[in-house]
Amino acid sequence: MSTKEEKKCRHLAIIMDGNGRWAKAQGKPRTAGHLAGADNVRTIAIAADQLGVKYLTLYAFSTENWKRSEQEVNYIMKLPGMLFGKYMQEFIDRGFQLNMIGELDRLPKETQKVLYDAVERSKMNDGLHLTMAVNYGSQREIVLAARKYAKDVLEGKADLNLEAEGFEKYLMTKDMPNVDLLIRTSGELRISNYLLWQIAYAELEFVPEAWPAFTPEVLDRCLAEFEGRDRRFGGVKNE
Ligand code: IPE
Ligand code: IPE
Ligand code: MG
Repeated sequence: MSTKEEKKCRHLAIIMDGNGRWAKAQGKPRTAGHLAGADNVRTIAIAADQLGVKYLTLYAFSTENWKRSEQEVNYIMKLPGMLFGKYMQEFIDRGFQLNMIGELDRLPKETQKVLYDAVERSKMNDGLHLTMAVNYGSQREIVLAARKYAKDVLEGKADLNLEAEGFEKYLMTKDMPNVDLLIRTSGELRISNYLLWQIAYAELEFVPEAWPAFTPEVLDRCLAEFEGRDRRFGGVKNE
């Protein structure tokens, strides 16, 4: 692999934040921000694919987002139906493989159906691996992984010599490489319980644009900055 290829972002994760503030700034209800944000998933997924990203993992709804009003949560739960209803055929034609992380069984039945259907319909594809994190929380993911591992030990299917690589097999992201770049939109400087394990050596970028205003140009800039970074993984700076 050439050095240039090694510097490319293979796995991009995005915390899609700022929908509510984006809408408020335009005198619109928060839901208008969520609608524009859902539509931007298509725009950015296409751009990421064209820019050479292989895995795109988007934070859509956290385990903490249930604290919001029932009206807002209900609205958000209808968005996958809108997104995939409008664009699923295009996603399939572009070779995208849809995946989900998070505890989907706690979502409304209709939302679950839409999400599982998207996964099923695109499972033969091998283009961009587009993963949506829905009812996802990283601490919960790690706790569930620990429980599964403990069960395997009790049943004699695993021993006590578990290492990091082995533990990753119990995570919801088991089939993905670790995150290369994490972008958070809308200027907040926190991780909000997203992919805590998987970002161990990710590069971080925080951009001021709200998610509905995060354009392919901003993405391109983020990836260019990423490629200019010197990732050392604990080693010594390249001379
Ligand atoms: C991100 O935008 C979408 C979700 C968390 C579901 P927000 O709804 O958090 O928007 P702000 O941060 O309140 O502006
Ligand atoms: C993180 O955004 C979750 C998603 C983008 C889905 P939040 O808006 O929920 O995060 P906090 O509450 O500002 O930390
Ligand atoms: Mg927010």
